[in-house]
Amino acid sequence: MEARSQWGTRAGFILAAVGSAVGLGNIWRFPYVAYENGGGAFFIPYLIALLTAGIPILIMEFTMGHKYRGSSPLTFRRMNKRTEIIGWWGVLVAFVISTYYSVIIAWAISYAVFSVNLSWGSDTTSYFVGDYLQVVDPGQFGSFVPGVLIPLLIVWLIVLGILFRGVKRGIEIANRIMIPLLVIVFLIIVIRAITLPGAFSGLEAFFQPDFSQIFSGTVWVQAYGQIFFSLSIAFAIMITYSSYLPRKSDLTNNAFIVGFGNSSFELLAGIGVFAVLGFMATQSGLPIDDVAAGGVGLAFMVFPEIINQFPAFNQLFGFLFFASLVLAGITSLLSITETYVAGLADKFKISRGKSVLFGGGTAAIISLVFATQGGLNFLDAADYFINQFGVAVLGLVEVVVIAWFLRQLRDLRTHADEISDIKLGSWWNISLGLITPVVLGYMLFQLFRDNLLRRFDTQTGNYEGYPDSFILYGGWSVAIGALIIAIVFTSMKWKNNTGVADKEQSSTKEAK
Ligand code: PFF
Repeated sequence: MEARSQWGTRAGFILAAVGSAVGLGNIWRFPYVAYENGGGAFFIPYLIALLTAGIPILIMEFTMGHKYRGSSPLTFRRMNKRTEIIGWWGVLVAFVISTYYSVIIAWAISYAVFSVNLSWGSDTTSYFVGDYLQVVDPGQFGSFVPGVLIPLLIVWLIVLGILFRGVKRGIEIANRIMIPLLVIVFLIIVIRAITLPGAFSGLEAFFQPDFSQIFSGTVWVQAYGQIFFSLSIAFAIMITYSSYLPRKSDLTNNAFIVGFGNSSFELLAGIGVFAVLGFMATQSGLPIDDVAAGGVGLAFMVFPEIINQFPAFNQLFGFLFFASLVLAGITSLLSITETYVAGLADKFKISRGKSVLFGGGTAAIISLVFATQGGLNFLDAADYFINQFGVAVLGLVEVVVIAWFLRQLRDLRTHADEISDIKLGSWWNISLGLITPVVLGYMLFQLFRDNLLRRFDTQTGNYEGYPDSFILYGGWSVAIGALIIAIVFTSMKWKNNTGVADKEQSSTKEAK
């Protein structure tokens, strides 16, 4: 087998994995999800989700990548020839995510520039939707928006440039610089945020526990969903990164460090976000509930408004906030893109340069769809479907196949225990064999019920009330398309020696 790239240091791997996990999801998703689902009380389901799904799956994926030393498709194939498709499916979902994740980073770059003279004006919502994105009706493309297109090309140039340099010289160095920088920038933001007038009322609203919510199934589904999204698990990402680990690596310990590191950042983001929301509520005399938001709305509509109201250094604060989004986003996008760069290189035996060019180039071209005037609507639909269904379906398929059908947990546990300080107990098997499948199964059932059945009840039962045809093209076609392309890739011939003895492989092997 030819030499596989490797991380230079243990810290390099941990920083890269943390860089993948800490992303836009931490900053704009977690605070709002926690607030909406019980505030302080949300930490109970969240912690349980981290310990029964997040960290166990992280350990499992680290061990898979380390043991089978391949991109996700190759790892799955080496585990069992028939499961290669699961690897590709994760890769394809990651591919789709990368096409719009890159666009959000592009917006953040624009907004970092806008903050220099607060050019979003006083009506930040109409600036974002109207002046900046020039949004048209759902389903229409309109023309390209240069303000998105240019930063988008910059994002891809940076990301593909780093990936081109390889694992040690590219990804590792980038994360070694960007993650410490992100932490410093974010700490400055949080310290400034909690010293603002009214910050405390925001924190109170954030931490105020509503224990009644703990008994709601939705809250648990949200907690597990957040953990999956936030830790970048079940999308081929962590398997790929861990395939570059040297033989002697402490897998379990690394998983704990990454898991807790990511959650710490999430908590920090919650404090920062709600402190400034408290400030804004106080300034405008509104209850927190009226100003609280998540996602695109929080970052590009509410935050600019808050920045306008800042007592001093508005521009600097704005710049730091959007710079932190860019840093968190780029380090995640690197990991998402590396899944298909590695997958293509493994399967078709092409150089890293070529697979960066083919894979990354294709993603960059497709991402242009989101740089049109219709981009925001497409992004919304694709993101909703991929994240809701992608997480639940892929996560469920992955754990059920590994734990129940291939019965791999014992082997993986032995492998992890051989090289890790912390030895795994039966909690690990129970988490993966029982708890995670049950929770994800329930999650999926709920999603199908909400998205398929509800439609027949009311006219506007669709997600965000989009018209049927738009949901069909934008959402379902993306989700199903990813699966179909995964099947196509799986059925193609391996150009590389996979080390798996089968008919097609043994002939190539003998020829060597
Ligand atoms: N974990 C990162 C985040 O929270 O933003 C990156 C990411 C991974 C985003 C997987 C989305 C996703 F589906």
